[in-house]
Amino acid sequence: MAISLRIAAVGDLHCTRTSEGAFQPLFAKVAESADVLVLCGDLTDYGTPEEARVLAKELSAMKLPKVAVLGNHDFESGAADEVSRILSDAAGVVVLDGTAVEVLGVGFAGAKGFPGGFGARALQSWGEAPVKAFVAAAVEEALKLESALARLRTPGRVALLHYAPIGATVDGEPVEIYPFLGSSRLEEPINRYRPTVVFHGHAHRGQLEGTTSAGVPVYNVALPLLRRHGPEQPAFRVVEVPVAVEAPATGDARAAGDTAAAGVRA
Ligand SMILES: [Fe+2]
Ligand SMILES: [Fe+2]
Repeated sequence: MAISLRIAAVGDLHCTRTSEGAFQPLFAKVAESADVLVLCGDLTDYGTPEEARVLAKELSAMKLPKVAVLGNHDFESGAADEVSRILSDAAGVVVLDGTAVEVLGVGFAGAKGFPGGFGARALQSWGEAPVKAFVAAAVEEALKLESALARLRTPGRVALLHYAPIGATVDGEPVEIYPFLGSSRLEEPINRYRPTVVFHGHAHRGQLEGTTSAGVPVYNVALPLLRRHGPEQPAFRVVEVPVAVEAPATGDARAAGDTAAAGVRA
């Protein structure tokens, strides 16, 4: 009998300094429905320490393990490191940035990602120095994701991003901004390492799900998108991921019949 872990994922909380209490119903539902919470960036609205402290207080009431990546909004005030530190110290959030962590027998690899566009139309490193610097930042984020994925040894492996790795989950946004919503450069390491599931946010008006060209499932868990698609449903996605058999059984882990595939619950 195999064991699976229920992973709840949501991004783009955009917590403000007036959000106190606003996320309590959401996190209470997460605690009822999942064993681990992953947060896919834009945790705060302007990336201020004050906003981070509000979110940390909201999160600290929920005792599940929490794994996150930051989003572009979390960098707006030049205090991304402090935002990460507050969330870590006050709420126990593990903030990934080209790094990996194992939680309850499942591996998590995370990076923020970067824009740049998709497929043959992706921005190339050519011409002016600022264009080359932009593309270099996208390549660096893809390398961060690759090195994080390479560290995972568990059968169940989860990739967290803020930016989209495929065009399918940004479809529905204004076509003019597609290149600012993600980068195909992020898809390459995903196809190489084949995590069980990929979560991202950022595309508030995209599509809920897609797959990479190698068939890896990709879920857009931007909160505004989830709310728009199912106002009667909890605004997070839950996916079951197999747990390493050598991992100690926990009260939170659940029995499951299929170790090969992640099953979507909501
Ligand atoms: Fe966002
Ligand atoms: Fe964003």
